[in-house]
Amino acid sequence: MKHFTLPGTSIDASNVILGLMRILDLDDEAIRTLVATARDAGIDFFDHADVYGGDHACERRFGDAVTFSSSEREKVYLQSKVGIRDGFWDFSKEHILESVDASLKALRTEYLDVLLLHRPDTLMEPEEIAAAFTTLHDAGKVRHFGVSNQTPGQTELLRRSVEQPLIANQVQLSITHANLLAQGIAANMNGLDQSIDRDNGILEYARLNDITLQAWSPFQKGFFDGVFLGDRENYAELNDAIDEIAAAHGVTPTAIAVAWITRHPANMQVVLGTTNPQRVKDASAGSDLPLTRPEWYRLFTAAGHVLP
Ligand SMILES: NC(=O)c1ccc[n+]([C@@H]2O[C@H](COP(=O)([O-])OP(=O)(O)OC[C@H]3O[C@@H](n4cnc5c(N)ncnc54)[C@H](OP(=O)(O)O)[C@@H]3O)[C@@H](O)[C@H]2O)c1
Repeated sequence: MKHFTLPGTSIDASNVILGLMRILDLDDEAIRTLVATARDAGIDFFDHADVYGGDHACERRFGDAVTFSSSEREKVYLQSKVGIRDGFWDFSKEHILESVDASLKALRTEYLDVLLLHRPDTLMEPEEIAAAFTTLHDAGKVRHFGVSNQTPGQTELLRRSVEQPLIANQVQLSITHANLLAQGIAANMNGLDQSIDRDNGILEYARLNDITLQAWSPFQKGFFDGVFLGDRENYAELNDAIDEIAAAHGVTPTAIAVAWITRHPANMQVVLGTTNPQRVKDASAGSDLPLTRPEWYRLFTAAGHVLP
């Protein structure tokens, strides 16, 4: 498992993260097995959100099932998010503070290693967010801060007020949902939908500013509409390419889907959402698997993206 120091922190993190959005219906033993499998594979970074399962429910399932001794707690990194509420988004100081307290209680931990602002609340007041972050940081409740699904402009607006570095941006990225990379590859092309810049250059902004991109839904076709792996009806060419490249490297297709992201020199982390321990193992084999340029671009075009 590849580890690297997240810029702006002293966190030496695995480049594969276990996301816990889907654990609501797992029993304690299944959660422990999932987490232990991840730890055995070298994963030390765990992604939560207040909203997963509704009202901190997935965080609570994790906290109820998994106990870290204080020495173990220092070897793992717990990240959570705040901002999505029932029918509206909320980056108010009051909500950030109360939500973090509820996350700490649910996770049974004294601090979060990273707190992300989940989706951009257009009603945000950057000074309020800055005050909330400083309160949380000074109280030892949150070590580092970041954003999720946010453009360079939104991040810059926050950076003008927030004292701490914004160290991560968690964004949707898979071989098939790849605007983030595909738009730049097709830059400067009239009449080609792929060349439309939909996020104002999140990729380059992150690289220029030492913000680690965390890729969520690495196996999903689009926005929560199922996995592309094995979907031969819609992605026959892609699955052929994945299967051949997987066989050439002696890994599973799951590892190739991960490697397509970890191969990128932006040093991204991949946020797995599987609840299946075998898939966690399979995915981990993609942590440090350097696809060749021809392999990487073959997967890109087989997914339907264009090289103009
Ligand atoms: N920041 C954000 O806005 C945001 C949004 C969404 C998610 N996230 C984070 O990202 C994590 C990952 O998101 P995700 O769960 O959507 O990503 P994902 O890992 O792409 O999808 C996981 C889902 O796909 C299924 N799956 C995976 N591989 C499969 C295969 N080969 N065949 C059949 N089914 C397969 C899993 O089922 P099994 O469990 O049975 O394997 C699970 O239901 C979440 O846990 C969360 O931490 C962040």
